[in-house]
Amino acid sequence: MPYAHITGWGMAVPDTVLTNDELAQRVDTNDKWIQERTGIRERRIAQDREFPSTLAVDASIKALAVANLKPTDIDLIICATSSPEYIFPATACLIQDQLGASKAGAFDLSAACTGFIYATNMAAQAIRSGSIRNALVIGAETLSRFVDWQDRNTCILFGDGAGAFVLQASDLKGGVLSAVMHSDGSGGDLLSLPGGGSRFPATESTVRDGKHFIHMDGREVFRFATRAMGQAAQEALDLAGLTTQDVQWIIPHQANLRIIETAARYLKLPLDRFVINVERYGNTSTASIPIATVEAIESGKIKNGDKIVLVGFGAGLTWGALAAEWTGALPSEKPIDVQRYRTWGRVRSFMLRVMRFIEGLIWGRDS
Ligand code: ACO
Repeated sequence: MPYAHITGWGMAVPDTVLTNDELAQRVDTNDKWIQERTGIRERRIAQDREFPSTLAVDASIKALAVANLKPTDIDLIICATSSPEYIFPATACLIQDQLGASKAGAFDLSAACTGFIYATNMAAQAIRSGSIRNALVIGAETLSRFVDWQDRNTCILFGDGAGAFVLQASDLKGGVLSAVMHSDGSGGDLLSLPGGGSRFPATESTVRDGKHFIHMDGREVFRFATRAMGQAAQEALDLAGLTTQDVQWIIPHQANLRIIETAARYLKLPLDRFVINVERYGNTSTASIPIATVEAIESGKIKNGDKIVLVGFGAGLTWGALAAEWTGALPSEKPIDVQRYRTWGRVRSFMLRVMRFIEGLIWGRDS
């Protein structure tokens, strides 16, 4: 049975920074309160031409370059997102098209902020079963588009960004060691985006009632999260036959520094064993764990041979954790110019549309 290794990684965030002080000019809040209660200092906000798919493609190109893999080598793309561009088509299909990943199956995974852990586990399982060899797993968000900028309970928390992992089959030992996934739908109302689905399709009244914004019971979510994070991390460790002492880094979902501190206390680990960047990006939902991982690798924290645990929680309610042995990129031959494939992806997409148009002219629109 092959092992599923994380062999590529990349991230992308919008350039536009929104600081706490700038937010305080819009709603009744202040930098001191936000930093004390959440640890967040600033977040990135997508501009007009930035979408989950564009951020995801930037992150994916970087991840493919690290793995030295062509988009056409990818068998499966899973995009975990809480802010899909459409109900359908899946954001993963937009990414597939922009990358020119012509062989890949592609779908979105909806498990809110736990989505990246679910998606990485699903991709790893597909590799372990032998049904695929190369997967691209992405967390991509522009949640700022669903935030009520008048609601100080939520608008201080969220930011935009994307992160991507390449997972590959290898006979070398290591890679994803274990994962746990949990859910409790009885808490679905604690954190939701009620409008725009088939229960509340967009109408004048859904807009008037604010149903297209994020709704959150912050205190309840906080209480749930403080329990879920430590427990899930411990379960993933037990399943992998590891103890906290075997693990170099815990990479938690970046929602609130106080939630991470509680998880550290539960696991009896010092906070400096946790990768934390919530102060610069806020809560980027599915993107927060891969963005934190990429920064930890690029700053030299995570090294080959390290054991890591990814752990998260989110709407649903969902929570989960994944333990992995970090092995880095697989040895490969000639370096691939992945950027070239971005252009190729655009050309390919254009040609397919033109061919579809010509076929329509030849055969008629009804055939
Ligand atoms: N600025 C200033 N004061 C504020 C603000 C603000 N932005 N927000 C709330 N307050 C006030 C409240 O009105 C309240 O005042 P009161 O005591 O006079 O009523 C006081 O501050 C305390 O409010 P709490 O809600 O108790 O504040 P708390 O310490 O719980 O922090 C927070 C709120 C930050 C939202 C916290 O509960 C939290 O982080 N919860 C988890 C949220 C989360 O992680 N969500 C994402 C999940 S992942 C996903 O799936 C997307």
